[in-house]
Amino acid sequence: MNYRHSYHAGNFADVMKHALVTALIENLCRKPSPFSVLDTHAGIGLYDLSGPQAQSTGEWREGIGRLLQVPEQAPDMAAVQNWLDIVRTVIREHEGQIFYPGSPDLVARLLRPGDSLTCCELHPEDQLSLKRLFRRNRGVSVHARDGYEAITALLPPKDARRGLVLIDPPFERKDEFSRLANAIMTARRRFATGIVAAWYPIKHRAPVRAFFNTLKDAGQRNLLSVELTIRPPLDPTRLNGSGMLIANPPFQFDETARNILTPLCKHIGMGETEAVIDWVVPQ
Ligand SMILES: C[S@@+](CC[C@H](N)C(=O)[O-])C[C@H]1O[C@@H](n2cnc3c(N)ncnc32)[C@H](O)[C@@H]1O
Repeated sequence: MNYRHSYHAGNFADVMKHALVTALIENLCRKPSPFSVLDTHAGIGLYDLSGPQAQSTGEWREGIGRLLQVPEQAPDMAAVQNWLDIVRTVIREHEGQIFYPGSPDLVARLLRPGDSLTCCELHPEDQLSLKRLFRRNRGVSVHARDGYEAITALLPPKDARRGLVLIDPPFERKDEFSRLANAIMTARRRFATGIVAAWYPIKHRAPVRAFFNTLKDAGQRNLLSVELTIRPPLDPTRLNGSGMLIANPPFQFDETARNILTPLCKHIGMGETEAVIDWVVPQ
């Protein structure tokens, strides 16, 4: 396991993922009944962007770094305001040092009493950081286990009939797209009423097309893809964009996603940034 998310936290792919996750959780919060979130590949939860790993790549400067330069409450940022408010709160809590909330910290801050978050993390050091982060949070449990295996073991959730499964693997392995497709199908089979959101890299188009085709050929329906590319996806050695495939998205989430990606494109882009929101398979 070589992948460490601290090199990439807050980059353009993270900000899209986290703004969308915030909107998905806010949607779950609209109904009073409790919900449960399974974060299969959780990372350490909170990232120090002034630390050596984040500084060595500087990726965050092209992501959250740019968004933090936009004046607070700018009218064109409305769709990402709540998520950015959380990021700013985290920075304030760290006395102005740029700390960035990863998916577990972000989700934990959005939970209501009675909602729950289960995080899985396989890296030995990252598990410890995550356990330390949540040692006083009773709504959050941290499992030192394989997130793919947890989909079978922990779904459906015991405490809720609604919820979100977030699958955010590191894409270190050549077969990650096919493992991801299987994981999405297993999660839907075991938790049919849940939303499943899966992150994927866009280096070039062919692997993404094959991923979608695997799901289509298996008869999966109601799949929305939300993609942000920062340059045309032509060089397969570079991360040219990123996507979230959302199964069972909330009503009109395509519109919500469009509203979120518009300001991200405007403020992150360098002229070539493009947002594509598409029904891979409609309902
Ligand atoms: C992309 S990062 C997660 C980032 C996090 N979801 C966020 O948004 O803040 C992927 C994480 O998965 C962990 N990991 C890799 N393989 C795993 C597995 N099979 N099960 C659980 N965690 C795994 C890595 O150590 C890494 O911390």
